[in-house]
Formats: sequence, structure tokens, C-alpha cells
Amino acid sequence: MDKVFVENILQGKVAFVTGGGTGITGGIARALAESGAKVAITSRKQENLEPMKNLIEQTGGECFAVAADVRDFAAVENALNQTVERFGKIDIIVNGAAGNFLCKADELSANGFGTVLDIDAKGTFNICRAAFEELKKSRGQILNISATLHLTATPMQIHVSAAKAAVDAITRNLAVEWGRFGIRVNGIAPGPIEDTEGMKRLLPKPLKEKLAKKIPLQRFGRIKDIENTAIFLCSDAASYISGVTLVVDGGHWLLGTSLG
Ligand code: HXC
Repeated sequence: MDKVFVENILQGKVAFVTGGGTGITGGIARALAESGAKVAITSRKQENLEPMKNLIEQTGGECFAVAADVRDFAAVENALNQTVERFGKIDIIVNGAAGNFLCKADELSANGFGTVLDIDAKGTFNICRAAFEELKKSRGQILNISATLHLTATPMQIHVSAAKAAVDAITRNLAVEWGRFGIRVNGIAPGPIEDTEGMKRLLPKPLKEKLAKKIPLQRFGRIKDIENTAIFLCSDAASYISGVTLVVDGGHWLLGTSLG
């Protein structure tokens, strides 16, 4: 199941990917480049972007790495402006920058809750808002990376659940408000995906084995599963899809998203 999409399906497109240096969104950035798009990647630290930039360039892609904190609107505007200077336009936004740690609600500080809301929800809004004029010009699209945690409820994840619920609301509201400009807005809600920072941080080994048995498809997701979904949603194959957050989790959430 390595490549299921038409070669160069995104040829001529320019994508801007937050959190694009590592993990799921790093995979999406690489897959967008493999599909022919020029890709800008951003995260807080430039050094976290360089390995992905090198990887994309080594495989013949074009990549621009620019550091910005998605919580800082001026920094976001600057990163988007630099991308337009470099590549001429923006067609695709992928909002993948996210914060996460395990913490019980009664131990979580107000600042801890707010920090994750700021990165995930406000960060997503900031990028969408700052990219609006460019997306309007290109009749472009937005892909917001959500989660399944809030579809039921997940202990020790009140902050992330609230943040991702807000991200889903942003997806739906912008699809409604910006559809008339030809802008499509969708999301992906990945379930438990192997080899990601989120899984490493959130799931100790004994829980991991227990969880694997609970997933209807009997395996963890792979970053490739999310990449394939992202390429589909970003391509013209999905040209009448907007306002949807597609759950990609092997059926896991239907049985509850508790991590254990
Ligand atoms: C409790 C914590 C904490 C922890 C931080 N805080 N880590 N509280 N437990 N482990 C609190 C701090 O005490 C502080 O509150 C507030 O949060 C801000 O902390 P800072 O360190 O100052 O903030 P900052 O450096 O801006 O960022 C913190 C961070 C970030 C949000 C933890 O470093 C981060 O997100 N790192 C992880 C990135 C990551 O793994 N991303 C992948 C997400 S996966 P006080 O009150 O003390 O000031 C994902 C998918 C979910 O989202 C699905 C999984 C199945």
C-alpha cells in the first residue's frame, strides 16, 4: 500500500503545512511533495524542520522551511508572506501543529488548558485567517488535523479534546462561510497512529498492546494511512467534499476512544 495516488496529482499546487517537520503532518508534507506540490513547512523551531526539508529535496521535491509559532498571528502572517514570495501563491493549507500531554482535569492548570487551546484551536484559526486572501485568489483549500478523542470522551485529555472539538467547529464554519469563494475546508481525525510523538507520549507499552486488540481492524494506523487520506482530500477527486472531518482510525472510536 505504498502509493495509491496518481503520480503528480498535485502538480503546480503550493501547500503550507504547520507542524510539517515531524510525525503525521511531516508525512503529509512529504506526500504532498511526492504528489507534485511545492511545500512550505513550519513549526516553532527551525532545527525541527531541516531534516524534513532535506528529505523532500533529496527526493526531488521543493521545500521551504520557515519557523513560526502558530499562536503568534504576526509570525504566521510573516511565514505565509515569505511562502508567497518564494512560491508565488498558496493553494493548500494543512493545519497540523498541536500540543499534547496527559493530565487529569483536576491537576491541569488554567495555563496548561489554555496553552493547548492556543496551539490547536487559535493556531488553526490564525493560519486560516491569515491565508484567506491567498486562498480566495487560488480557490484553494484547508485541511485541519483533528483527533477522535472528543468524539466520545478521553480521560486525561480534556484540554486536547476541547481543542480538537474547536478545530472541528472551525472546519465546519469556514466550509460554510468560505464555500462561496470556492474554498474547500475539511479535516482528518486520525486514530492511534504508530511511530508518532503523540502515541509515544500518550501510550505506555502495556496499554498499547491492550488498545491494539480493541481496534476493529486489529492494527494501529500508519502515517501512510493519513498521508493517503490527505492527498485524496487535497486532490480534485474530492472536489465536492467540504465541511467534513474524515475519521481514519480502523473503526476505533465506535467502541470509545479511551486510550487503554
Ligand atoms: C501538566 C503541563 C504539562 C504536563 C506542560 N504543562 N506540560 N501540565 N502536564 N505534562 C503546562 C505547564 O505547566 C504550563 O502551565 C503550560 O502547560 C504551558 O507549558 P509550557 O511548557 O510553558 O508551554 P509551551 O512550551 O508553549 O508548550 C507546552 C506543550 C508543548 C503544549 C506541552 O511543548 C507540546 O505540545 N509538546 C508536545 C508536542 C506534541 O507531542 N505534539 C503531537 C500532538 S499529538 P503553568 O500553569 O505551569 O504555567 C495529538 C494527537 C492526539 O495532538 C491523538 C492521540 C491519540
